[in-house]
Amino acid sequence: MSNSTAIVSVLTALLGFPALPAAAEPSPARQKELIHLVRQDCGSCHGMTLQGGLGPALLPANLADKPAESLVATIVHGRPGTPMPPWHRFLAEDEAQWIVAKLMAGFPK
Ligand code: HEC
Repeated sequence: MSNSTAIVSVLTALLGFPALPAAAEPSPARQKELIHLVRQDCGSCHGMTLQGGLGPALLPANLADKPAESLVATIVHGRPGTPMPPWHRFLAEDEAQWIVAKLMAGFPK
């Protein structure tokens, strides 16, 4: 290990974030919180079973032909002029990516 590699890994350990900003999988505890948030808060508009309500259905069949990045952007920034609110104060972009991946695959209970 070179000196600079050693310094980076010490800093990484101290600061608590990975040196490479990959789309990080949320921790298992955070995943539980995100599942709860989607079922409760998103469910208030999109339906508790995500079959739609005030907001459209978020089931795999409804999302299949939509680009994941635009769905992530909708969650992070909302859709101005519609009731879809922005979630950036509550969700990191990585977390929105994780939610979209799960929605497209069939959201966990
Ligand atoms: C206050 C009601 C409301 C809440 C709460 C809400 N949404 Fe929405 N959402 C909407 C509406 C309405 C639309 C459709 C906007 C439009 O007309 O383009 C929408 C659109 C979306 C879309 C785009 C769907 C598509 O087919 O293009 C996604 C994805 C989405 N919401 C995810 C979420 C997630 C995830 C949450 C929770 C973190 C959430 N929404 C919370 C009302 C809501």
